[in-house]
Amino acid sequence: MTTTPRGSGYPGYSETMYRTPETAEKARRLARLALRVWQMDDVEDGAALLVSELFTNAVCHARGECVRVIIDRPEADRVYLAVVDHAPDRLPELREAVPDDADGRGLALVEELADRWGCDLMGREHRPWGKRVWAEMKVTR
Ligand SMILES: Nc1ncnc2c1ncn2[C@@H]1O[C@H](COP(=O)(O)OP(=O)(O)O)[C@@H](O)[C@H]1O
Ligand SMILES: [Mg+2]
Repeated sequence: MTTTPRGSGYPGYSETMYRTPETAEKARRLARLALRVWQMDDVEDGAALLVSELFTNAVCHARGECVRVIIDRPEADRVYLAVVDHAPDRLPELREAVPDDADGRGLALVEELADRWGCDLMGREHRPWGKRVWAEMKVTR
């Protein structure tokens, strides 16, 4: 795991992990760890859920051996969670929720839980990584 100094003054956490369903637990643990260090325990579950959805999407819809999980605190009251994958040609699409459909709800949940979310294609300097799907939570207390 690496911790990276940021302009905000809060070191971020990131880790490269295998892109397998079993590793999702590790991604959730990283998010929980960061939030405990930042004493934001009240949003720990929400953050773990967000990371879980982003991670599972990278497992199901991206490609490559690894992903990179990033947990940051860009501002005192904002938490940034991202999963970087190797598939720049396949993008996340928010789908209309259909009552009996088990699939296609992950991003709807992200939309609901996150203050904002998005997807950034990685620039040439960050190749071979493809894109970064991220979500931000605003933490009010
Ligand atoms: N990291 C990703 N890489 C490629 N496609 C993605 C990624 N995340 C999401 N998607 C696309 O967005 C769609 C909606 O995602 P989601 O709401 O989580 O539903 P589900 O994962 O059940 O299909 C997916 O079906 C997929 O086509
Ligand atoms: Mg999904």
